[in-house]
Amino acid sequence: MAVTKLNAVICIIGLYLQIIAATAQLSTNHYFATCPKALFTIKTGVLTAVLKERRMAASLLRLHFHDCFVNGCDASVLLDDTSSFTGEKTARPNINSLRGFEVIDSIKSQLETTCPGVVSCADILAVAARDSVVALGGPFWAVQLGRRDSTTASLDAANTDIPSPVMDVSDLISAFSNKGFSAKDMVALSGAHTIGHARCTVFRNRIYNETNIFASFATSLQTNCPSDSGDDNLSPIDAISPLSFDNGYFKSLINNKGLMHSDQQLYGSGASTDSQVTAYGNNPAAFLSDFAAAMVKMGNLSPLTGTSGQIRTNCRSVN
Ligand code: HEM
Ligand SMILES: *[C@@H]1O[C@H](CO)[C@@H](O)[C@H](O)[C@H]1NC(C)=O
Repeated sequence: MAVTKLNAVICIIGLYLQIIAATAQLSTNHYFATCPKALFTIKTGVLTAVLKERRMAASLLRLHFHDCFVNGCDASVLLDDTSSFTGEKTARPNINSLRGFEVIDSIKSQLETTCPGVVSCADILAVAARDSVVALGGPFWAVQLGRRDSTTASLDAANTDIPSPVMDVSDLISAFSNKGFSAKDMVALSGAHTIGHARCTVFRNRIYNETNIFASFATSLQTNCPSDSGDDNLSPIDAISPLSFDNGYFKSLINNKGLMHSDQQLYGSGASTDSQVTAYGNNPAAFLSDFAAAMVKMGNLSPLTGTSGQIRTNCRSVN
């Protein structure tokens, strides 16, 4: 009898420790009991938005990247500036550029109706990024969940930690290495540029001044990106298939049709990344599976778990 009781107590302690351990890390079934419709709600919100405008998939994917690279995936990128709070939205890589905030707001408000105070904004970003990629024909991956939301943001870190489109390949490799990524991860993640658009202002110098660009490609871009105006005019980053999540981006690079300086740096700059670009250009399956694995890794950047941070009610402000 006594032994059985002791066993029961040990068993309960064991379970308890398991629960503590589980709350301190991410898992794919985090909302299984607390908000069973969470994933469905996010997917529906993403699909509705992408059906209206396919580019939104790219914008949502980028939001998750710009969140994770600044003090981890904690939804800091979503916080609005106020008279007493400085967020990340005015940082150089973000201002007049990031979009999709209303899509996240709409998903969040639906989730607050069905499961108030349960689903974090950081997790919504991670799932929306995956669903966006899938919506444009890219790979599926199981998203790790259980991130909590920050109560802080860092304008400085957003300015320093998010890579810039004028970087050379060595600086791109360092920027990703600072976050624990290999050069190989960096190339795979850059494949996100197989969807979406960029503004004239970020690629103007390249199409007028650089020589490692296919000549007629540069000329045709100049029509929509004059040398002295049209800063916000858009061009697709992947010249081949900007609305499909495929390996068109890498094929573009192999043809010297990278849009931004940083894009073309991955191929033809004498760097060790050339062979990987060629491999992805020839083998879409290799790219898609490496991309999915690298996205899981990116989603694991310093999440807040346990009792750190909070579950925001409104993704734009701390509770
Ligand atoms: C390798 C370093 C990277 C640099 C230098 C870079 C830079 C940029 C720039 C300058 C733009 C255009 C912004 C504008 O015109 O307003 C852009 C767009 C985009 N970036 Fe990156 N990026 C990088 C990596 C990534 C990664 C890792 C992801 C996601 C995993 C990503 C996803 C995107 C997407 C999807 C767009 C298009 C957004 C849209 O159409 O709204 N980028 N990037
Ligand atoms: C081309 O390069 C020159 C010299 O760096 C610079 O002054 C000029 O603004 C560049 N042109 C464009 C269109 O960016």
